[in-house]
Amino acid sequence: MKNKIEQLEKLRSDALLGGGSEKINSQHEKGKLTARERVQLLVDEGTFQELDLFVKHRSHDFGLENQKYAGDGVVTGFAKIDGRQVALFSQDFTVFGGSLSESHAEKICKVMDMAMKLGIPVIGLNDSGGARIQEGVVSLGGYADIFLRNTLASGVIPQISAILGPCAGGAVYSPAITDFIFMVKHTSHMFVTGPNVVKTVTHEEVSFEDLGGAETHASKSGVAHFVFDSEVEVLDNLRKLIGFLPLNWKDTPPEKDFDFTKPQFDERLDSIIPDNPNKPYDMKEIINLLLDEGDFLEVHDNYAQNIIVGFGRVGGVSVGIVANQPHVLAGVLDINSSVKGARFIRFCDAFNIPLLVLEDVPGFLPGTEQEWNGIIRHGSKLLFAFCEATVPKVTVIVRKAYGGAYDVMNSKHIRGDFNFAWPSAEIAVMGPKGAVEIIFKKEIVSSNNPEEKLNEKLSEYIEKFTNPYIAAERGYIDEVIIPGETRVKIIQAFQLLKTKVDVNPKKKHCNIPL
Ligand code: HXC
Repeated sequence: MKNKIEQLEKLRSDALLGGGSEKINSQHEKGKLTARERVQLLVDEGTFQELDLFVKHRSHDFGLENQKYAGDGVVTGFAKIDGRQVALFSQDFTVFGGSLSESHAEKICKVMDMAMKLGIPVIGLNDSGGARIQEGVVSLGGYADIFLRNTLASGVIPQISAILGPCAGGAVYSPAITDFIFMVKHTSHMFVTGPNVVKTVTHEEVSFEDLGGAETHASKSGVAHFVFDSEVEVLDNLRKLIGFLPLNWKDTPPEKDFDFTKPQFDERLDSIIPDNPNKPYDMKEIINLLLDEGDFLEVHDNYAQNIIVGFGRVGGVSVGIVANQPHVLAGVLDINSSVKGARFIRFCDAFNIPLLVLEDVPGFLPGTEQEWNGIIRHGSKLLFAFCEATVPKVTVIVRKAYGGAYDVMNSKHIRGDFNFAWPSAEIAVMGPKGAVEIIFKKEIVSSNNPEEKLNEKLSEYIEKFTNPYIAAERGYIDEVIIPGETRVKIIQAFQLLKTKVDVNPKKKHCNIPL
């Protein structure tokens, strides 16, 4: 027996080296960690239960039969993050560049299938040259097996991808289907076709970084939800994200202990909104004051910044925040912000995470660029997502709520549960100037002093409409509140809403305007 145990230990220690020390050194020289180092940093110490350490590829072409590595380029298994179970895979670039073979794909599918049965999140740490070229179509089949599982798992268990090296060709579509993508600056890249193909086809010269680097995907394409300077920061923040999420769609998000006896009135909120309604301010100041310990994990912080989305806690309860940002484009809704908001809302709704909506929106962005690119189609995604969401939904209108955007931003009419407004709220079909110029056009034009008439009508309109009280008279606003008492009100609301049950009509699936 002793010999057999020694043999097993030798096999294990060889397997742990992946492609060998030379390749590990080369990985480090590129500023990257190895697959196993990443797992160690991600999960609670001593909790990793590995699967399939001895799996090898079955290929006999192009000399592969003489190059076999235990594990075949991917580390898979189960572990805990802050004491909660997750499933994971971590691609090992030291073995054939982390490329995906038939066996490599089978290992990923196995751990995903188990995650579905166990009802636990799947985390994928990607670092791969794509399909293992020597295996041909078998490797493509392996990708398709993963895509199918990603799709079927969507909305059942959270799926999170970290891109920590190359991710190219069709391989990008697995992370793209998952819920969140993390990238690391300078060492991770995602693209459907690389710079060489781009040059051949479109004659454009573009670097790896500009085409598909982390910053490109964080700010231009919106593919990456989180971007950090180092792998360590990526893994830290991935742990933090997991802390806001339930394990699966039937679970509730983890709650933190909260001292309900502590006073929550915060008078700093009373002086954030400027007296001039056209002056911008930073909505993040409000968010920070409303969340427990000001702790906000922002999603997509560099993309479509006119809307802010992210996770925080209110009275210990995990919530998703959706807020207009008057600091950027006056907080107007456009194509990108609508899609960003809609995707986030649907994630929260799928996983029982209540929504807190902070509203200051002048409307949808006008212009040919927006109309021709489909603001009607894309804007409706945001509306659809809010309408279909059945999680607890609380809205606070802090300033503008104009036009269709009033309806869209989780109004009472589309099942907002608690809709509060600050006294600074302006709830109307449109802003005063535009409105007056339309409804009093004839009176203004025929007046002896058109400018005086315009101002007179403007004052009348502002007096009558730019306040929250007409909406409150109808019950469209449940309560007009002092800004400083907002935290008190939303803590109460989310506590009360814990027992909320709301369902949508039975169907095969909805047909969200894609
Ligand atoms: C087999 C691969 C490989 C692959 C890399 N390697 N990619 N082996 N299949 N796809 C091997 C290399 O031969 C090398 O082996 C080792 O991994 C490290 O690769 P390097 O090129 O030395 O590393 P680096 O300079 O960092 O460049 C990494 C790279 C490059 C940018 C990923 O290797 C590359 O361009 N690879 C090919 C990418 C690609 O075109 N893949 C197919 C995409 S299409 P040795 O033994 O020399 O160390 C695709 C379809 C998916 O994936 C479709 C799904 C529907």
